Amino acid sequence: MSLLSGIAAGASVGVTSPSGDISLNFDVDKSGVPLYSIDYKGRQLVAPSRMGLLADETAFTDGFSITGVDTVTVDRSWEPVWGEYSSVRDHFRELAVNLRGENPERELTVRFRVFDDGVGFRYELPVQKGSNYLTLRDELTEYNLTSDNTVYYIPGDYDTDEYIWSETALTDIPAALEKYHKHTEAQRAEGKNIQTPMLMKTPDSVYVNIHEAALVGYPAMLLDVDTDNLKFKTHLVPDRLGVSAYLQMPFNTPWRTFIISDDARDILASQLIMNLNEPTAIEDTSWIKPMKFVGVWWEMFTGNVKTWAYSDDPLAKPGVTDYSKLPSNGRHPANTENVKRYIDFAAEHGIDGVLVEGWNEGWEDWASYRKNRQFLFDKPYPDFDLPLLRDYAREKGVKLIMHHETAANAADYDFQLDRAFKFMKDNNYDAVKTGYVGAIIPRSEHHTSQWMVDHVNRVAERAAEYQIMVDSHEAPRPTGLCRTYPNWLAQESARGGEFESMGGNPPSHTCILPFTRLKGGPMDYTPGLFETRMSYYGEGKDSQAGTTLARQLALYLTMPSPIQMACDLPENYERFADAFQFIKDVPVDWSDSHYLEAEPNRYITVARRDKNSDDWYVGAITGDDGRTATIDFSFLPAGATYEATIYEDAPGAHWKDNPQAYRIRKVTVTPATVLAQPLAPGGGAAMRIVKK
Ligand code: NOJ
Ligand code: CA
Repeated sequence: MSLLSGIAAGASVGVTSPSGDISLNFDVDKSGVPLYSIDYKGRQLVAPSRMGLLADETAFTDGFSITGVDTVTVDRSWEPVWGEYSSVRDHFRELAVNLRGENPERELTVRFRVFDDGVGFRYELPVQKGSNYLTLRDELTEYNLTSDNTVYYIPGDYDTDEYIWSETALTDIPAALEKYHKHTEAQRAEGKNIQTPMLMKTPDSVYVNIHEAALVGYPAMLLDVDTDNLKFKTHLVPDRLGVSAYLQMPFNTPWRTFIISDDARDILASQLIMNLNEPTAIEDTSWIKPMKFVGVWWEMFTGNVKTWAYSDDPLAKPGVTDYSKLPSNGRHPANTENVKRYIDFAAEHGIDGVLVEGWNEGWEDWASYRKNRQFLFDKPYPDFDLPLLRDYAREKGVKLIMHHETAANAADYDFQLDRAFKFMKDNNYDAVKTGYVGAIIPRSEHHTSQWMVDHVNRVAERAAEYQIMVDSHEAPRPTGLCRTYPNWLAQESARGGEFESMGGNPPSHTCILPFTRLKGGPMDYTPGLFETRMSYYGEGKDSQAGTTLARQLALYLTMPSPIQMACDLPENYERFADAFQFIKDVPVDWSDSHYLEAEPNRYITVARRDKNSDDWYVGAITGDDGRTATIDFSFLPAGATYEATIYEDAPGAHWKDNPQAYRIRKVTVTPATVLAQPLAPGGGAAMRIVKK
């Protein structure tokens, strides 16, 4: 739209969102330090905050002046391969500020995009005179807040994000983090930071999600908290030498993102992080198929007897040991007969896939990490007849899903990757669940440091070459790269449903994830737990899931993902066949979504339209307290009458002591209907809405 140059030092430049509600201001101070600030509806949300990068070779920190500014308005839309909407609008005003520093000479561009639902900015480093390489030590981006906001967060950790969320005032974060000190000491920077995505709520009820988009060639970030100054500072995850990143210029950092609204529903609906990612790099996406699956999986989490390992010999070495000579421990569910049972179940109920964990050599020595090679990805155990199961599944129209647990030996996985993917394709597998449990090998790296970010991105990219879909566990928190690699269907990257067998997830947990973790991309949360009381994983006692049965159905709507598990055992679905019908019916791909009610940590109600039919679905969940959801059906197209089948908590249901009390009823609804839908404490309701 315009090109200005020769801006005087000290002169500020700015840009507003298309609606005018958000304004972004940029400035350099007297010392040439770059500063940005953000206003929302006339009130300052982020006060002038420092920007910059610190490298061994050069400091991109101060001494800058503005040499030019470019602004442009963009309004376009794109069609995701799968997702919550069939079309996404990408509408923003952009401000690119070119900066130059003298002595030494340095060039830096800061690019801002201001959308109606927030702001993104990144640093762009052109090739520098003198050095093309940077050993990055720190990113100086700060977030100076103007109030002691309520923050929803998990503790900073270089290796895991499988935590329960906290909701505290910003100034109470350090005290709240104390409880984590003991067990994460080695992985965290002094317990003074939190992870992103995080959410804030200001005292005047403005919601702000802070995260990043398009994390490529760079480490993930944590946020150091400074309670005295009400501020966060970027804390890049370093390698064990303390280096944040090794960069080769030209280089663009990931986007620093702010999703902003005074309506919590807008945070859930926002596609800002996806918009800041590059369009799909895959030309033919016809092979990418959203799906539901069951798995030889939950048996190992509950019951305390079943194992991923075939034998009990801790010295068995993959590729070296002749497993056919080892005795089976008799507790290995990934065996031919049992897998056939799951295939039959999937075929009978129209479930697309069957995941099998514990099918390959290497699980015996899981805990010792003594070997360079932990697993082989083309060596099935002797009791897993892969050719037979491959043909059996094909005949029944079911897809087997492969599991690649690497035990965090990511370097070795890189070596095996091509062979492993070729083996998959040769055997009719189209999807893989990957995993990185344990300390990363090589040991100089963390799960979210630059090297691992590169690794998981490389796996998704390489998988696309083989037309393989990926569901990664223990990978860095997603940043919208599934737009660029839509074969990357989902990630875990948070505390998932598996923790129901380890003491349980509080009901509020799934009332926060959609506001935080899910903004980066879908989660393989593994909903569908019907038997909510089970033996505690690895211990003799019981574990009580933080959910009612009806809520588990609603999670298919409130935790949208193009790959959804029905996590429970076939026998538990057979016990509750009428409720299981909802899991059979619910789609995993949508043409439209309407968030009807939302408050972080409290409740979410959403309506979605199936991408492949005219059917609508509604999911409503509440936190630890019961509530009555108000469901306004005005999202339905005018002129038609629908029948809604409602799966709801029965009167008296409670996640703690009466979780399996549900009932199913049918009501007629039109766009004029407003329904008061009761939800039990820790409960939920799910609806299928079909035109009459
Ligand atoms: C942790 C994953 O989250 C879980 O789904 C998997 O079963 C185990 N690792 C074993 O790989
Ligand atoms: Ca996990």
